[in-house]
Amino acid sequence: MILRLTKIAGISISLIFISLASYAGDPAQGKEKSQTCVSCHGETGISVSPQYPHLAGQYEDYLVQALVDYRDGDRDNAVMKGFAAALSDDDIEDLAAYFASQEGLFTPSEDQW
Ligand code: HEC
Repeated sequence: MILRLTKIAGISISLIFISLASYAGDPAQGKEKSQTCVSCHGETGISVSPQYPHLAGQYEDYLVQALVDYRDGDRDNAVMKGFAAALSDDDIEDLAAYFASQEGLFTPSEDQW
């Protein structure tokens, strides 16, 4: 029994590390890499015009998914396809970490759900 619990705990801990490791973007690197992005999405992640979505404070995994989807063609947008095409997985994680670290999106606290 104790052995089984230890095993379960071990697996859970490994899973936590795997999920943390999967989005290990560096916001400082992301800032460097965001030079082309800010002309539309804004330096603070608040976009310069209503035709461009704000990125500030968006969930990191959402931003990663969006950029991967544009790059791979699963999300089709002529403008973003061009910008995402040249991004490596590391670039995407850094950019996502940068925009996610900005203040913006309102996230309801758990007791509001
Ligand atoms: C010429 C303007 C422009 C530039 C430059 C640009 N984007 Fe975008 N971006 C857009 C538009 C327009 C959309 C909305 C596309 C759609 O409808 O899917 C968008 C959407 C996005 C989304 C999805 C947002 C959401 O809420 O789903 C992300 C993430 C994103 N851009 C990141 C970036 C990054 C990172 C860069 C730089 C590498 C960049 N963009 C450069 C115009 C731009």
